Amino acid sequence: MKAVLDLKISRIVKETSRVIRIELVSQNGSTLPLYQAGAHVELKLPNGLMRQYSLCRLPTTGMSYEIAVLKDPNSRGGSMLLHQMKVGDRLQASYPQNHFLLKNPRKTAILLGAGIGITPLIPMAQMLAKTGVDFALHYSAKSPASAAFYDQLNKSEFADKVHWHFSDANSRLNIESLLKSLVSHPDLYVCGPRQYIEEIMNCAKVFGWPEERLHKEFFTGAKSPLIDQTPREMFQVKLASSGQMIDVPPGVSITEALEMNGIDIPISCEEGWCGTCMTRVIDGVPDHRDTFLSPQEHTQNSLIMPCCSRSRSDVLVLDI
Ligand code: FES
Repeated sequence: MKAVLDLKISRIVKETSRVIRIELVSQNGSTLPLYQAGAHVELKLPNGLMRQYSLCRLPTTGMSYEIAVLKDPNSRGGSMLLHQMKVGDRLQASYPQNHFLLKNPRKTAILLGAGIGITPLIPMAQMLAKTGVDFALHYSAKSPASAAFYDQLNKSEFADKVHWHFSDANSRLNIESLLKSLVSHPDLYVCGPRQYIEEIMNCAKVFGWPEERLHKEFFTGAKSPLIDQTPREMFQVKLASSGQMIDVPPGVSITEALEMNGIDIPISCEEGWCGTCMTRVIDGVPDHRDTFLSPQEHTQNSLIMPCCSRSRSDVLVLDI
C-alpha cells in the first residue's frame, strides 16, 4: 500500500444480521480524496492483513467513506476482525482505486449484484440516476432480511429501477430470460460470488455480448475451479530495471520469490481476483491463473498477476 490515509471509524450501522456498514473519516478531520462509482479502498487491518472494500455510496461532502462488511465464517480473518472493531478505532487505507469503473454514466447499463456484491453497484446506480439515463439494478439475495441496503434502495430515487430476486421466495434471477430480452447488449456490470458472475458471463457470451460490454468484480476469495493450481517447474523472473534474475521454484509464487529477495510489490487478495499486484510483462510468456484479466488480455500477454500466475517460458521479464 503506497499512499496512505489515516482513518478512524465514525459510525457502524447494522444492515443485516451479518452485514455492517462502516463509516470512516480522516483522523485529523480533513477532507478525503474523491472517487468514482465502482471504486474501492484497501484497508490495513490491525493484524496486518490487507483487504479491499468497495465504497458503497457516491462521495457527498468528501468528509467520509462508507464500506459494507459481511461477517463471513470462511473469511481469512479480515471480515471477522472488522466486525469486532468499534467507533473510534483507527485504520489505514489506500487512496480509492478503481478496477470496476462505470465506463459511461450516460449510457444504458444493467447492474447485477448478489449478496454483498451489491456494494460497488450502489454508487453506480446513484450515478446513473443522476445523469437520468435508463438502467436497471438486479439484486439477488436470500430474503429481504438478509439483503443489505434493502430499506435504502426501496426509499431511493431510483427504487423503481431496483429488481429484487429472493431465493427464499422462489424469485431467483432468471439470467437466461433477462439476457435474452436485452437485445441491444447494453453494458453489464456484475458483482458477487464467483459462480454467479461466471454464470452471467457465460450466458452473455452465448447471447453474443461483446467482451468490452462485460464488466465484473469478484466478491469472494474462494478459489475458482477454473484456475489451474498445479505447480509447474521452476522458472526465473528477470527485473527489467536492474537485470537481476530471481528463481521461482514450484510452490512459491512470483510475489513470494520477489519478497524473499527484498522486492515488495503491492498485494491484497493473493488469489488473482483483485488486480492489486498487476505488473507489466516486458518479455516471456505468462501462465495466467488469475480471474482479474479478461480472456483477451490473457492472450495479449502484456500483463500478469504475479500473486498467482506463473510462466510458460523459462524466463519472464517484468517491469519491476
Ligand atoms: Fe489480488 Fe494479485 S493480489 S490479484
